[in-house]
Amino acid sequence: MFARIALSVMALSIVPLVNARLAWADDAQKAAAASQKDGKYLDADGNPTFKIQPDGTVDWYTFSGYRRYHSDCHVCHGPDGVGSSYAPALADSLKSMDYGTFISTVAEGRKNVSGGQESVMPAFGDNKNVYCYIDDLYVYLRARAVGDLPRGRPAKHEDKPQAAKDYENQCMGG
Ligand code: HEC
Repeated sequence: MFARIALSVMALSIVPLVNARLAWADDAQKAAAASQKDGKYLDADGNPTFKIQPDGTVDWYTFSGYRRYHSDCHVCHGPDGVGSSYAPALADSLKSMDYGTFISTVAEGRKNVSGGQESVMPAFGDNKNVYCYIDDLYVYLRARAVGDLPRGRPAKHEDKPQAAKDYENQCMGG
């Protein structure tokens, strides 16, 4: 039993490395919520994802990601992930960026000096206001990229799960 789990975990971690530079595309089908634990939704590959109910109610993490995005990212990336003259539209970027690449890009930042003009994505790897909410940011932007999440503040959201409160206390305090 354990051996089988270990093997499938290995298989999962090898695939992204092999495919890292091949075109990868996300879509609504891949992002469909396949399971849920304590109010956090996962797709069939086990990556965090959003859940939008028919009446527009979003899961807690999507709502939280909306708020975090607009406090830490929108100054450069524009409201609702639509981009600006300075930084790319993350609502487009996430159509072809997987979870692991998103995490490492936000943690490490990026500097692009091509074309003479320097554009800099700061590294947020030691910023608790960002990394304690990195999955929230990811699922919000994923919902904007491949879900039907409209622009603006989601009108209705699920209650904050106890697991989110516990994780927040541990991450922000530790
Ligand atoms: C100070 C401005 C600034 C802030 C704040 C900022 N970014 Fe960026 N970000 C950039 C720039 C500029 C780029 C493009 C860098 C390049 O040209 O490679 C970028 C690139 C990215 C990319 C890669 C996009 C792609 O298409 O390859 C991701 C993902 C990203 N940012 C996420 C975030 C998140 C999440 C936040 C908030 C926590 C954030 N950024 C905050 C400026 C910023």
